[in-house]
Amino acid sequence: MLGRSVIEVANLRKAYGSTVAVDDASFEVREGEIFGLIGPNGAGKTTTMECVEGIRRPDGGRITVLGLEPYKSPYELQHRIGVQLQQAQLQKRIKVWEAVDLWSSLYPRPLDGDELLEQLGLADKRGAWFMTLSGGQKQRLFIALALINDPEVVFLDELTTGLDPQARRKIWSLVTGIRDRGKTVFLTTHLMEEAERLCDRVAIIEHGRVIEIDAPTALVEQHCPERSVVFTADASPPAGLDSIEGIESVSVEGFTYRLEGRGEDFVTRVIHHLSASDIHVRDLRTVLPTLEDVFLKLTGHGIRD
Ligand SMILES: Nc1ncnc2c1ncn2[C@@H]1O[C@H](COP(=O)(O)OP(=O)(O)O)[C@@H](O)[C@H]1O
Ligand SMILES: [Mg+2]
Repeated sequence: MLGRSVIEVANLRKAYGSTVAVDDASFEVREGEIFGLIGPNGAGKTTTMECVEGIRRPDGGRITVLGLEPYKSPYELQHRIGVQLQQAQLQKRIKVWEAVDLWSSLYPRPLDGDELLEQLGLADKRGAWFMTLSGGQKQRLFIALALINDPEVVFLDELTTGLDPQARRKIWSLVTGIRDRGKTVFLTTHLMEEAERLCDRVAIIEHGRVIEIDAPTALVEQHCPERSVVFTADASPPAGLDSIEGIESVSVEGFTYRLEGRGEDFVTRVIHHLSASDIHVRDLRTVLPTLEDVFLKLTGHGIRD
């Protein structure tokens, strides 16, 4: 059950000189969810997050985090939130346990550092210099440091950028683990796959404006209802494909058929049709739209353009 909202942002605005980085952004993050602010580089994600964390002063709008106004109560808030650090902020030769110790000393009731390192798979790196860690290990250390004060809300900015797929997956499961322990996670990413895998809800931001907010599956359902079924049949073509409800096109290449249609039941209808037609299907797969397709549809261009 998702409860009260822990972050409320209303009409946030922030400009750097003549560059409007965030333009009238509004959204809320609810207790116990992983909420993603997603969009291309330069969209205004980091600026928004930093305003919410209280380290940047908004030009306009209202923000509350756990009922506090971040820019007015930074110290009170710092004890209750966890912020992932940027890499540059750790010295090369600081050891993993030293960093954890240092961070622990900043808070009145820190968690057990060794236990945290164990949970994040860094126990054997306790005595290693920061500069000797791999990208994934550094990110896991940053997560450990963000969690040391047992925060109610955790902020993660582009946590897996630059990591290989394996390290990325490991981080993803750590982040869902944070949520499963009852925390609220507010993250940013420009990776649509990451958002789709990880986030309960997302706000899509482009040019500083929030253009959509919902669960990834709901956004796909709403904006990209098209579905495709691709199958390969032995020999004779199945009859009556054009009459399947919701079908929009049929294309054939050799014995491989691609059926495009829309509606939640489209895939089921195709399967029923094929099983009733008594042909031999050698291979069948569905192609469902993704958050990337939603982004394309909403903005008219791809996320990497
Ligand atoms: N400190 C800064 N000074 C001037 N412009 C900035 C600064 N930080 C970000 N910007 C600009 O604000 C816009 C939004 O940047 P940012 O919030 O970092 O976006 P994102 O995190 O989505 O990549 C970009 O046009 C960026 O160039
Ligand atoms: Mg950023």
